[in-house]
Amino acid sequence: MKRFSISMEEELLKKFDEFIARHNYPSRSHAVRELVRDALIEESIKEDSEVFGTITVIYNHEVKDITDKITHLQHGYLNEIRAAIHVHVDEKNCLETLIVHGKASIIRKIASGLEGIKGVKHVKFIMTSVEP
Ligand code: NI
Repeated sequence: MKRFSISMEEELLKKFDEFIARHNYPSRSHAVRELVRDALIEESIKEDSEVFGTITVIYNHEVKDITDKITHLQHGYLNEIRAAIHVHVDEKNCLETLIVHGKASIIRKIASGLEGIKGVKHVKFIMTSVEP
């Protein structure tokens, strides 16, 4: 195996170590390898393959026009968005999970479109496939 060093902000490293403890990874190296594998598998899903997935968005609904923008974007993907669940997290924040189905390239566009909306705090996109 090759060795290389990684630079990371102290706060991020602290959180990473907590993540490692929660997931019972035996070492930082092991955790990094798993995360890199996950990323490569996700990327290797071909653009035209049919996938299912979830896109979870956390946003502050008080940001001007954000709810309209998120709704407008979703109406552009009537065939791909099969379900949406909305939870009001606290006074300001909302969580919305979309269950999506369609070509990987289109699903990626939905996720990146949401990431680009001002006021969106976090987008977590999980892609899976029924194909072998
Ligand atoms: Ni809400």
